Amino acid sequence: MNKNEIFERRIKALKEMEDNAVNKQHLKGKLTARERLDVLFDEGTFFEFDAFVSPSQSPMSSRQSNFGDGVVVGRGLVQGKSVFAYAQDFTVLGGSLGYSHGMKIAKVQEMALKLGAPIVGLMDSGGARIQEGVKSLSAYATIFNNNVRSSGIVPQISVILGPAAGGAVYSPALTDFIFMTKNTSYMFVTGPDVVKEVLNEDIDKDGLGGGDVHANKSGVAHFVSDDEEHTILLVRKLLSYIPSNNFESLPVSNQISYYKSRQQYLNKIIPDDPNRPYDMKEIIKILVDKDSFFEVHEGYAQNILVGFARLNGKTIGIVANQPKVMAGTLDINASIKGARFVRFCDAFNIPLLILEDVPGFLPGIEQEHNGIIRNGAKLLYAFCEATVPKITVITRKAYGGAYIVMSSKNTGGDFNFAWPSAEIAVMGPAGAIKIVHKHELANAENKAEMEKMLTEKYKAEIANPYKAEEIGLIDEVINPEKTREVLITSFEILSNKQYSKPERKHGSIPL
Ligand code: HXC
Repeated sequence: MNKNEIFERRIKALKEMEDNAVNKQHLKGKLTARERLDVLFDEGTFFEFDAFVSPSQSPMSSRQSNFGDGVVVGRGLVQGKSVFAYAQDFTVLGGSLGYSHGMKIAKVQEMALKLGAPIVGLMDSGGARIQEGVKSLSAYATIFNNNVRSSGIVPQISVILGPAAGGAVYSPALTDFIFMTKNTSYMFVTGPDVVKEVLNEDIDKDGLGGGDVHANKSGVAHFVSDDEEHTILLVRKLLSYIPSNNFESLPVSNQISYYKSRQQYLNKIIPDDPNRPYDMKEIIKILVDKDSFFEVHEGYAQNILVGFARLNGKTIGIVANQPKVMAGTLDINASIKGARFVRFCDAFNIPLLILEDVPGFLPGIEQEHNGIIRNGAKLLYAFCEATVPKITVITRKAYGGAYIVMSSKNTGGDFNFAWPSAEIAVMGPAGAIKIVHKHELANAENKAEMEKMLTEKYKAEIANPYKAEEIGLIDEVINPEKTREVLITSFEILSNKQYSKPERKHGSIPL
């Protein structure tokens, strides 16, 4: 056979494999690996390599996987920017990860790291290829190690589009963002059969580790959507907010518009009754560029909101208490969610806006016994550690330890503003007067009237933003309708923020 014939035969074999994959995957309502990459990348920009890598030999296998060993790897453009990717092909031995398959992934990870580009994994795999035994495990270990080496240097994104079971879940878990699809993807360390055998509990794959479970309950997934195409398009959207690596400047959009006529509404958005909730998302929507808020972890720990947005065209990260859910208290899940997001933003130089209305940490036996102390400390640690520009706006409550945690001045807040409605104090009026005026209240003829009077006095003299302003802990009490303007100017001032950290290997965050 001459050289041309060999070349032609290889191309033909690849084409046959793709046709086979199309048939198999489409029957299940799924896209093939290459189709998924087509959705991810700008049209015609995907450059594949290692397409003809052959599988590692294994004594047990009666059939070998084919050219490429069940994974497509390469590089393409997303909104014109270089991104590396790999896509597992379930039609080749269930997308299982053999040695060659794993080493292809490791190679593309290393290229992404070397070239400072994000890496996206489109996963659809039965896990470690059983026939290849420890060789397969060693390939996984290399991938995990690369995940950790790349962390904080290039953004790493995992998209789960089928099974991810056993130890295979740990590569996604080490990456920055996990996307899942409803009904067709699932992640678990041990599947339903093992759960039944060990614990005698009945549950199906979706109930154990489907997209909804991980997006809303476990917090493992950051995004979930109805079908593969939408899921992958969301990845493109995320990439439009973040830099390609930890040295690159942030992407800037020159299409700037905002809800100009709605700014005045901010003056009356805070209810007169301090116990009445309102929707912090509305405030975010009014403050940032039109329709630019891209929420992360939307379904999980909804008492805190995190996400990216653009302010005057520039990316910012937002962390905000949500008074509409659990009165905006900080619990274990909210603390972990917030901390993770703050650390991502800090690693990739994304300035932070903190919108604060927090009555405190959530009390209770369940919270204490599950470690609200240890977990709340994660958020505190993350804010103290973050050196990116940090601007806090207190809209209403800022009580006690939670006030300190939410990027207060002494934890390194660069600008701390408050609306006139802010209540900054050790605790809310109801609790405070019961402690401070215990004896007067016990002896009062009209207890209710006295409580009312003391509450008013407490608010006027202590729980307001002016005491903090007097001592510089609040830089300025601002008119709510001017908040957008103030934020744009303040982030501009902070854009050259310099910082130095004492030499150390790394801190010891309370994990
Ligand atoms: C080799 C595998 C495989 C695997 C699937 N296949 N998983 N081959 N190693 N791990 C093959 C099947 O033999 C089958 O081959 C084809 O892929 C499709 O699989 P089906 O079972 O027919 O598909 P489906 O019914 O959709 O079920 C998918 C599945 C199931 C749920 C993923 O295949 C499954 O349970 N596989 C094993 C999962 C598992 O236990 N993996 C190890 C996890 S532990 P044919 O030739 O018939 O088409 C792990 C450790 C990682 O991964 C450690 C890292 C530290």
